[in-house]
Amino acid sequence: MSTTPTRALDTQELEQRVKHMYEEVARDPDADFHFETGRPMAERLGYRAEELDRIPAPAIGSFAGVGHFLDLAAIEPGESVLDLGSGSGMDSFLAALAVGPDGRVVGVDMTAEQLAKARRLATEAGFDNVEFLEGYIERPPVEAEVFDCVISNGVINLSPAKETVFTAVARALRPGGRLALADIVSSQQLPEGVTCDASLWAACIGGAMQRDGYRAAIEGAGLQIVEWRENEQYRFVSERADNAVRKYGVTSISLLARRPEN
Ligand SMILES: C[S@@+](CC[C@H](N)C(=O)[O-])C[C@H]1O[C@@H](n2cnc3c(N)ncnc32)[C@H](O)[C@@H]1O
Repeated sequence: MSTTPTRALDTQELEQRVKHMYEEVARDPDADFHFETGRPMAERLGYRAEELDRIPAPAIGSFAGVGHFLDLAAIEPGESVLDLGSGSGMDSFLAALAVGPDGRVVGVDMTAEQLAKARRLATEAGFDNVEFLEGYIERPPVEAEVFDCVISNGVINLSPAKETVFTAVARALRPGGRLALADIVSSQQLPEGVTCDASLWAACIGGAMQRDGYRAAIEGAGLQIVEWRENEQYRFVSERADNAVRKYGVTSISLLARRPEN
């Protein structure tokens, strides 16, 4: 498996740290994190209040994404959408509204509490065109070439195998399908003091890939980047996070990429 250089990072420890952090985001979204959660942040990032009003409020409360990209995704009725790292399901529910009763949405996440919460909210609110599967974004448990659109919010930075994730995205997309995401990247390659800090990694900072490398990972999977924009409205909240952000240019971006037609 191709991996982002993380010489001394213990990937098993990292997985446990990430799961632990996002268990807490599902259970107690108002606790102190290095990052913001919830509706005020979602609205600041560009989510429209009238759309948020149509999905379960607890999914919005546990929103831990880093940008808005649904305008780039331009999801149409009847489409099929895969949400990688779906968390408590906010983007999946918004995608479910956009695809309507003839479409479907599949969310994939590795953290049991996030999955349980998203599934419970889907059942309670009667969203029967969305399902949440347990799995890894590096090898999502879905068929090849069936999705019109893959979305992901604040997740790929958490993977130590980003090239593998983008290869999995290209596999899941039908020819001509698109990838729309928000994620964290850096201007400079982060030093080992940051990349090997599992707690900064789990907070969406330590795993930030240098932006040219990130673009190359997407293009290396055979996808063409159509649009790339900076999300200046996103901010980290702890002092430690803020130092890394200022020193290494860690920022949030949204992008649209396409799998070429065969
Ligand atoms: C920052 S949260 C974002 C969740 C959601 N997209 C949102 O916007 O609220 C990251 C999510 O990705 C999941 N995750 C992180 N790494 C993963 C991996 N390798 N495979 C599957 N899920 C992963 C975590 O469990 C967590 O729910």
